[in-house]
Amino acid sequence: MSPLRLLTLPGDGIGPEITEATVRILHAAAPLLSRELSISRAEIGFPALKAEGTTIPEAVTAAAQKADGVILGPVSHNAYPPVAEGGLNPSGVLRKALELYANIRPARSYDGLPPPTGQAFDLIVARENLEGFYADRNMAQGGGEFMPEPGVALAMRKITEAGSRRIAEAAFKVAQGRTKKHVTAIHKANVMRMSDGLFLDVARDVARGFPDVDYDELLVDAAAAHLVRHPQKFDVLLCTNMFGDILSDLASELSGGLGLAGSLNLGAVHAVAQAQHGSAPDIAGQDRANPTSLILSSAMLLRHLGETRAATAIEAAVTRAIAAEKTRTSDLGGALGTQAYTDILCCYLEESKP
Ligand code: IPM
Ligand code: MG
Repeated sequence: MSPLRLLTLPGDGIGPEITEATVRILHAAAPLLSRELSISRAEIGFPALKAEGTTIPEAVTAAAQKADGVILGPVSHNAYPPVAEGGLNPSGVLRKALELYANIRPARSYDGLPPPTGQAFDLIVARENLEGFYADRNMAQGGGEFMPEPGVALAMRKITEAGSRRIAEAAFKVAQGRTKKHVTAIHKANVMRMSDGLFLDVARDVARGFPDVDYDELLVDAAAAHLVRHPQKFDVLLCTNMFGDILSDLASELSGGLGLAGSLNLGAVHAVAQAQHGSAPDIAGQDRANPTSLILSSAMLLRHLGETRAATAIEAAVTRAIAAEKTRTSDLGGALGTQAYTDILCCYLEESKP
């Protein structure tokens, strides 16, 4: 059997540390895989910009296309005003080049980390990943934004029937495999009547094809409020691109922090595990970063690639470590650094070996 070929793109800031931790976890879980594991690495972000004049060289995109799966760290150049010229957004480029139209972002409460409401919850944000304000986005040239005259800036938000249909279908399929089997479409169709109107029309049409899944709709502002008040009432949130970006951060913060947020970019052919958070340059290189977001994203990638046993073991190791304060990183009230936390996860994985 051919090996499982994963490509890591560590990125900037805490990216290299959390990627290194993730690679250690993958090797520790390797005995649970159905095939040999082969992990390669390529540079994106500032190291690539310095060496090749772009934050994501074409050769890296080509390598991502050939890999079975990609593990993507955060990059730092995204600030405004831009900190460097030539800075394409690697996640935007990869999402487009690999046609990763769905971004699946689970958020749940953990034993030992009581949620703000006191009620356990378990939800998934299914985020459209290529359209909305992100469509035709090219940070170097402005993309979907322009200034028709000085002092006036316009941004275009693109919603298509085809794009809405495939993310809606993905969301309903995810819901079918869950206990609650409920999809809530998130929108602002009272203001964006045409674009979110189209999104809702398609969501309703797709809902008719899934009679076993409950369906309702919620305005995005109300959804934010309801999420804070009673996250346990949600199951799958079907979102356009930017609403999903925002609500997924909100949901993961309720679960304990952005450092816990798994995220998988999915297309018909390719899949990219991605840390949901940014590059946190303020704590880079200090062994303080919580690598869980990228580790859980990689577990999602393994599950997607059919490696259920390894994925389940990694998730169980994380759940076990987070349950006790003494095995947590500092963002979650513990005292462990990135490496010591990773050591613990590796020990737990070792114990689950066949
Ligand atoms: C995310 C990030 C990206 C996004 C940024 C880095 C462009 O916030 O993956 O959630 O907005 O999609
Ligand atoms: Mg985001």
